[in-house]
Amino acid sequence: MTTKDDIQLNRGLQGVYFDRTETTFIDGKEGILEYRGYSIHELAKHSNFEETSYLLLYGALPTQAQLKEFEAELKASRNLPEQVLDVIEIVKDSHPMDVLRTAVSTLASFDPDRSDNSPEGTFRKGVRLTSQFATIVMAHHRIRRGKDPIAPSDSLSHAANFLYMLEGKVPTPETAELMDRDFVIHADHGSNASAFTARVVASTNADLHGAVTAGIAALSGPSHGGAAENVMQMAQEIGEPENAAQYVKNLLAAKERVMGFGHRVYKAEDPRARHLREGVRKLSEEKGEPKWYAILEAVVEEMKPYARRGIHVNVDFFAGVVYHLNGIPQDLFVPIFAVGRVPGWTIQVVEQYRHNILIRPLLVYTGTHDRPYVPIAERG
Ligand code: CMC
Repeated sequence: MTTKDDIQLNRGLQGVYFDRTETTFIDGKEGILEYRGYSIHELAKHSNFEETSYLLLYGALPTQAQLKEFEAELKASRNLPEQVLDVIEIVKDSHPMDVLRTAVSTLASFDPDRSDNSPEGTFRKGVRLTSQFATIVMAHHRIRRGKDPIAPSDSLSHAANFLYMLEGKVPTPETAELMDRDFVIHADHGSNASAFTARVVASTNADLHGAVTAGIAALSGPSHGGAAENVMQMAQEIGEPENAAQYVKNLLAAKERVMGFGHRVYKAEDPRARHLREGVRKLSEEKGEPKWYAILEAVVEEMKPYARRGIHVNVDFFAGVVYHLNGIPQDLFVPIFAVGRVPGWTIQVVEQYRHNILIRPLLVYTGTHDRPYVPIAERG
């Protein structure tokens, strides 16, 4: 019999490799992130969300014709079935992540490839979901304020259309570009909690909608996707840059965590963070609210000693302020992360199907044995 002493226990699956991937490479020690062999820095600078999604899904950068076709496919999926809008109306008072989860689960019933778990069918569903996520988030935000959803525009990019659906205003090219970059850097990230969850679901041969619905639930917690919301709350509590140092000191003295810092994998700076830093600086000046950038930088300054322990800013640190300055309320921050992550979840589900093995780890039992069953009438 295997004894507890023979077992190598890896709580939180820390440091455990459970499969292979050809999609995303991460070197946490060096702070390297690549999609399909392309550095995130190259993609953040030169690519856009549509092209990066294609790259993630199909493994190569598209030709012009392929990109055109892919963009048309995405645009054709921007509208939601009426029934899904009705469901959103029913659950509109829940947190937007819960609404997103419910709406995505409902969408399964209306998808023409519902019962098709082939890679082709899953790609088609993934492309539709990529567009539908954006519409759900903004439609819900309108509906909960008693307004009609803004119909998606098919003359705009994914990122510009997303912002457009907030109030019906076409964003400036700079603002759309920053949103686009945010989606690019969030598009995939190895075996994080939500992608792992999606893979676990897919490993039972359940469908993409099921896997992605579970992924949304995993992403909703503050240790994963929720940090951008908490960073913004922190910045608001700090209020002015000169309060930042004391605020951080108090937090750390109370053994609490500074949101937007630390990462399970990155022990160097999260390579995604820098692509929003400059954008936050420019945007906060452009909007006449430079204090947000100054507050974040003051927090970074105060956290400098923690770099020695491998605690640096992560992707969520600057993201919250970008959204805030675009007039997006805090409870939509995690859903925005989800909007960017659909291509990553999709390709990971396809990878799981392609070389499937049921994901079924083990638990070390630490309870008691051989307890005699006492009938209910005899229990004290
Ligand atoms: N502020 C202060 N101390 C921290 C922080 C932080 N943000 N993060 C980790 N530590 C400390 C922690 O207190 C612990 O110290 P000690 O060894 O003295 O007990 C040590 O670092 C290791 O922490 P851990 O929780 O064992 O490390 P982990 O790898 O499980 O944590 C994390 C990863 C993301 C859950 C954690 O860093 C955290 O809670 N950060 C704040 C939330 C956040 O920003 N989350 C977004 C993650 S990035 C988005 C994504 O990719 O999903």
